[in-house]
Amino acid sequence: MEMLLFMGAQGAGKSTFYRERFFDTHVRVNLDMLATRHREKLLLHACFQMKQRFVVDNTNPTREQRAGYISLARAHGFAVVGYCFELPLEDLRSRNEQRSGKARVPDVAILSTLKKFERPSPEEGFDHLYRVDTHGSTCTVTEYLHEV
Ligand SMILES: Nc1ncnc2c1ncn2[C@@H]1O[C@H](COP(=O)(O)OP(=O)(O)OP(=O)(O)O)[C@@H](O)[C@H]1O
Ligand SMILES: [Mg+2]
Repeated sequence: MEMLLFMGAQGAGKSTFYRERFFDTHVRVNLDMLATRHREKLLLHACFQMKQRFVVDNTNPTREQRAGYISLARAHGFAVVGYCFELPLEDLRSRNEQRSGKARVPDVAILSTLKKFERPSPEEGFDHLYRVDTHGSTCTVTEYLHEV
C-alpha cells in the first residue's frame, strides 16, 4: 500500500495531475475539500483500515506539515512517495489567473506558500521522491534531485 504526498504551491497543477494519473486508483485527501482536520483524520484512517491507496493533495510546503502524514503512513505500513511540483512564480500566477471562483487564490497566498516552502529530501521518510514538470501539454516525472 502507498500514500502519495504532493507538494507545490497553489496553481502548480497538483489536482490536475491527480485527475490524470490517479483518479482511478487512489482516493484524494484534500484539506480544502474536507474542511477540518477531524474529517481528514477520519478519511485517512478509513484508507489505512481498508488498505486503500491515497494521495494527499495539499500544498504541504513545510517539513513539519509533511512529517505528520509521513509518520502516520509509515506507522500503518504504507510506503511513502513524494511528488514535488516546482514552478516559477510567473507560471503559478498565470495558471492561477486562468482559474475561476473559489479555485482562484490571491497572489499573496501563493507568495506565502513559496516563502515557507522547504524542498523535500529523502531523509524525511520518502521511499521514492519525484519531481513533476510540465512543458506545454506534456508532463514529465523524474527523480527529484535535492541539489538542483
Ligand atoms: N500541465 C499543465 N499545463 C498547463 N496548465 C495546467 C497544467 N496543469 C494544470 N494546469 C492549469 O493550472 C491551473 C491550476 O491547476 P491545479 O488546480 O491542478 O493546481 P493545484 O496545484 O491543484 O492548485 P491548488 O493548490 O490551489 O489546489 C488550472 O487552471 C489548470 O488547468
Ligand atoms: Mg488543487
